[in-house]
Amino acid sequence: NTVFSDDIKEIVIDEQELKDRISELGKEITDSYEKDDDIVMLCILRGAILFMADLAREIDLPVVFDFMDVSSYGASTESSGVVRIIKDMEENIEGRHLLIVEDIIDTGRTLKHVVDMLETRDPKSIKVVTLLDKPDRRVQKEMDADFNGFEIPDKFVVGYGLDFAEKYRNLSFIGVLKEKLYI
Ligand code: PRP
Ligand code: MN
Ligand code: MG
Repeated sequence: NTVFSDDIKEIVIDEQELKDRISELGKEITDSYEKDDDIVMLCILRGAILFMADLAREIDLPVVFDFMDVSSYGASTESSGVVRIIKDMEENIEGRHLLIVEDIIDTGRTLKHVVDMLETRDPKSIKVVTLLDKPDRRVQKEMDADFNGFEIPDKFVVGYGLDFAEKYRNLSFIGVLKEKLYI
């Protein structure tokens, strides 16, 4: 799609690169579990929704879908540091394998909050897959994903689920916004 072309400074990851890497991630994830494992895939709304949908179809195992709405950014390019659970997940994860699906790990605060909370529910395992990782930005040093699509530099990226003030999520690639739009 080209609807936001005028707002994008550069494409960081194009549609084909996303597709190819997500296919590889699906295989890695499939290989990391047993055939009869009971797996709950948890999409962290809203950013991870497109990644979840495409990744799930590359995982060759039966999985259950669930969703949790967590927000920290609001209408800013900077994480506020306050993580709010807007909607909890529905499934009981006790004794089950939990696969948390994120679009990006930035400071790591969102993931830390979610993992700490869900560990208390005694899942059999917790694994994290993120499409993007900005390791340079990490505040919560120990928060790394088990599966990581792309390491990216510290630029504000949008598209393929990632927003700026709720816009740009439906771009089919990951790109950098022109500075004049948010400075
Ligand atoms: C973004 C992104 C991650 C989180 C990463 O979500 O989708 O969930 O921030 O940042 P962190 O590692 O610094 O915590 P956001 O809170 O913007 O909500 P959204 O997914 O609805 O856009
Ligand atoms: Mn998010
Ligand atoms: Mg956001």
